[in-house]
Amino acid sequence: MARRAAAVRRIGILTGGGDCPGLNAVIRAVAKTAMNVHGIEVFGIRDAFRGFVEGDGKLLGYGDVSGILTQGGTILGTSNKHNPFHFPAERGGKKVFRDMTRTLLANARRWRLDACVLLGGDGTMNIGTKLTALGLPVVGVPKTIDNDLAETDVTFGYDTAVACVTDAVDRIHSTAMSHHRVMVIETMGRYAGWIALKAGVAGGGDIILIPEIPYDLAKVVEKVRERSRTGRRFSIVVVAEGAKPKKGSLTVERVLTDSHDPIRLGGVGAKLASEIEKASGLETRYTILGHLQRGGCPTAYDRALATRFGYHAMELVAAGRFGRMVCLKGDTITSVPIAKAVARLKLVPRNHPLIRAAKALGTCFGA
Ligand code: F6P
Repeated sequence: MARRAAAVRRIGILTGGGDCPGLNAVIRAVAKTAMNVHGIEVFGIRDAFRGFVEGDGKLLGYGDVSGILTQGGTILGTSNKHNPFHFPAERGGKKVFRDMTRTLLANARRWRLDACVLLGGDGTMNIGTKLTALGLPVVGVPKTIDNDLAETDVTFGYDTAVACVTDAVDRIHSTAMSHHRVMVIETMGRYAGWIALKAGVAGGGDIILIPEIPYDLAKVVEKVRERSRTGRRFSIVVVAEGAKPKKGSLTVERVLTDSHDPIRLGGVGAKLASEIEKASGLETRYTILGHLQRGGCPTAYDRALATRFGYHAMELVAAGRFGRMVCLKGDTITSVPIAKAVARLKLVPRNHPLIRAAKALGTCFGA
């Protein structure tokens, strides 16, 4: 979908899906580049597609996007429950779902939006692809702490989440040593093990369990026993929420019927801790880090990446290159068709260099 730069006078911007450190840094970069370089106005849409369908948004001034670089969360608000193609509503006390894209497109016309910049993960990008097909030009900016979006080496927010988990592992390490306990730490990451792998290695985890390598409980138990036998009377187990035993299944915390991505993982850490304690006889505790990993201010790496992504998104808008998602390849910011980016998840390869290095140092992956 090509539209000449001169035709773009005003863009909409929204943040969709789970929040993530660095969203405000992208909003700032998009808005300041739009205003300073391209003379384009920026209209902020509240709570993602909820606001787009319900007509909730406002024109952003320079003051709205100043001083937000370091802030966690998103000044625009977000939602992962409002898909315009399957939009929730109440009818006679019952929840129903309707296609609200006509209303969304009418709002885009009413707000005089020539294009939109969508900040989100695979759910938001999928909607973006369909909106592009309906004639609303969009540019995507990938975000997720999970780092599981294909076609970009890294998503912003991942580095901050890894720093948070590493700090937690460090703290748990000292109490584990003092009490001679096995400590299980559960991370987020959905179906990918990027957070657990990197933070597990950075925190010196003795056992790291990720979805890509189904674990054998006997191997995990043997590792903590061996450590105990050889005088290391504590063990640190870092487990991704999506890790599952060989021949076993995922641990689901809840199913959200009103979300287009209904499964919420969680609880594998508690299950595993109880199984380790029973099988090894060693006192075992667990900590679920949960949403701590999504909060707080972004690391320097994420601030810089988010700034580059936001700037590049506006370059795409100005060049009329729509239906594309900005991405990082090596040291270069470039872009790919959004449809290509959402075609598959980026999972940890079993021979990832970090896995090879950790194994050489004696880390157990439960296989
Ligand atoms: O995708 C980001 C993420 O934080 C995942 O790691 C996690 O599984 C999920 O979102 C949690 O979603 P919610 O905030 O809806 O519970």
